[in-house]
Amino acid sequence: MVFLNGRILPIEDAKVSVLDRGFIFGDGVYELVPVYSRVPFRLEEHLLRLERSLSAVRIRNPYSPAQWREFIYRLIDTQPFDDQGVYFQVTRGVAKRDHAFPKNAEPTVFMMSNPLVNPPGEQVEKGASAVSAPDNRWLRCDIKSISLVGNVLLRQLSAEADGAETILFRDGKLTEASASNVFIVRRGVIESPPKGNLILPGITYDVIVELARANGMPLEFREIHEPEVRGADELWVTSSSKEVLAIVMLDGKRIGAGQPGPVFRRMYQLYQEFKLKVMRAGKREAASV
Ligand SMILES: Cc1ncc(COP(=O)(O)O)c(C=O)c1O
Repeated sequence: MVFLNGRILPIEDAKVSVLDRGFIFGDGVYELVPVYSRVPFRLEEHLLRLERSLSAVRIRNPYSPAQWREFIYRLIDTQPFDDQGVYFQVTRGVAKRDHAFPKNAEPTVFMMSNPLVNPPGEQVEKGASAVSAPDNRWLRCDIKSISLVGNVLLRQLSAEADGAETILFRDGKLTEASASNVFIVRRGVIESPPKGNLILPGITYDVIVELARANGMPLEFREIHEPEVRGADELWVTSSSKEVLAIVMLDGKRIGAGQPGPVFRRMYQLYQEFKLKVMRAGKREAASV
C-alpha cells in the first residue's frame, strides 16, 4: 500500500497526472525515514528538514506535523515487514507547463514504504570501496530536492566500478557523497565538512555528531582538502540507509590500513546501541542520545 494525497491505496491504483510538476520539472522535495521494528528513527528531525526544504523551494507544507505523523504511522502499519524505509515527497502539484509557479496548484504528496536495506554484515566488517568525482551539482545541495539527476550520474560512476559510493570534491575540497555524508578520521579526530549550501544536512550526520560528543570522541568541522581524504586513517559514509559504513578503498587505493578502523568500530557499535535504545523505548517519539 502507498499513500497519495490523503489516501492509502494499492500502488497500482496510485495515479498522478503527467502534468505534475514533479514529473515535468523535478519540482519538489523529499525525505527518507528509516523505521526499525516499526518505530521511525528521528522522525521529528526528518519532518523539520522537510519543512526547511519546502520553505527553501517555496512549496506550502500541506500537512501539520501531527498529520504527517499520523499518515506515516498508518502507512507503516499497512506493511507486512518491520524494518522499513519510508519515502515521502511533496511536489508543487499539477499545472499547465510553465516554469513560473502556478497560481492555484495543490501540492501532491506521495509516500511509500519499502523494506529497509542496511549494508550487509560482511560489508560492515570488511568495509566498502568508493570512487571519487568532481562535485558538479548545483549550489543548493542543502535542499533535499527530488531533482536528483546530478546525484544519479555521480552515483552511477561508482555503481559501474562496483563501489558503494562516489565521494565528491568541489574545488579540491570534500563536500559529501552522491547519497550520503562523509567523515574522515585523522590521528584519532573525527572530521567532516561543516554544514552549508554545499552538503545535505544529514540526519545521520547529526546522530554521529551527537554520539561522538556524548562519548568524548574528538570531533572537528572544517574544510577538508582532497589529499587529506586520500591520506586519512579512516573514511566513512553516513546515511539513513547506510547508517555508518567504512570506505577502505578509494579509486583503487587503500585508505589507512585498508580495513575498517578502530574509531569506525566504536561509532558503529554506538550507533547500533542507540538504535536499540530507540526501538526498546518502543515509542514513536523523538529520541535523543
Ligand atoms: C546527497 C545526500 N547527502 C547526505 C545524505 C544523508 O542524509 P540522511 O542521513 O538524512 O539520510 C543523503 C541521503 O539520502 C543524500 O542524498
